[in-house]
Formats: sequence, structure tokens, C-alpha cells
Amino acid sequence: MSRIAIVYWSGTGNTEAMASTVLQGALDTGKDAVLLTADQFSGAQVPDYDAIAFGCPAMGQEILEEDEFEPMFSDCESRLSGKRIGLFGSCGWGDGQWMRDWETRCLSDGAVFAAESVIAHDAPGSEELAACRALGAAL
Ligand SMILES: Cc1cc2nc3c(=O)[nH]c(=O)nc-3n(C[C@H](O)[C@H](O)[C@H](O)COP(=O)(O)O)c2cc1C
Repeated sequence: MSRIAIVYWSGTGNTEAMASTVLQGALDTGKDAVLLTADQFSGAQVPDYDAIAFGCPAMGQEILEEDEFEPMFSDCESRLSGKRIGLFGSCGWGDGQWMRDWETRCLSDGAVFAAESVIAHDAPGSEELAACRALGAAL
């Protein structure tokens, strides 16, 4: 059975709601999936999982959250080559630049996208939650 990790950071709960729904999508398809916050994950754990969904909102000026998520994610990057991943996160006023930059970074790490990235503006609506569920199923 494939092992899936959903690793996220969320300040006000929007990305957390997305993460819970990605988890649900993975569990729905009978996968062995776990939900972890950024401080519970590190690069050393990447090889333990067949696929990983990473979730982080747009912070700073169109960047990943700097204190917990960015250090954790950058620690993972050298082990992402060939790894099936998915990205998701919430943003406010932006047009998704943080997600485009993050995708470019993952591609240059050699990661393989299992599904399209999911962006919500503020709290995820039913369409974004359905996309999160589909992402979880595709991992
Ligand atoms: C310090 C800070 C910086 C932010 N920077 C951006 C940004 O650059 N672009 C954007 O679209 N939204 C930005 N936002 C809005 C958040 O991405 C948005 O509120 C999101 O829903 C938060 O997700 P969360 O509830 O998972 O923490 C920022 C919010 C905060 C608190």
C-alpha cells in the first residue's frame, strides 16, 4: 500500500482546511495517509513516503511561510527528485505568484506532479475543496 504524507503550515486555518480535505481524498481511495504540520516533518522523512502533498499559504511578499515551512521544505528539496507530489495553499490579494514560483522550484528539484496545484482565495469554497479531495485521491 502506498504511504502518503500531507504536510502543511497554516496561520489562520484556511490551508489547514485544505490539508484535511486532501487527507480525506487520500483515505477515500484506501491509502495509508498521514497529516503532519511543517514542524513534524523534515527532509529525512521524504524517503518514507511514496507521495507527499505540501500545503502553505502565500506569505511575506508571495513567498512560503519563512519560520517553519520554508526551512522544512528546503530541507526536503534534495530528496524530491522523482517523488510524486502535490501543492496546495490559500492566498489573499495575490494572483498566485507564490504558487507559480513554488512549482518552478519543485520542477527544478525533479519532483513529479500527481495533480494540478490547488489555490484557494482565503477560505476554500466547495470547488477548491473538491480539487483538494481529487488531489488526495491522485497522490
Ligand atoms: C504576513 C502575511 C503575509 C501575506 N502575504 C500574502 C501575499 O504575499 N500574497 C497573498 O496573496 N496573500 C498574502 N497573505 C494572505 C494569506 O495568504 C491568506 O490570508 C491566507 O488565506 C492565509 O492562509 P492560512 O489561513 O492557511 O494561514 C498574507 C498574509 C499574512 C498574514
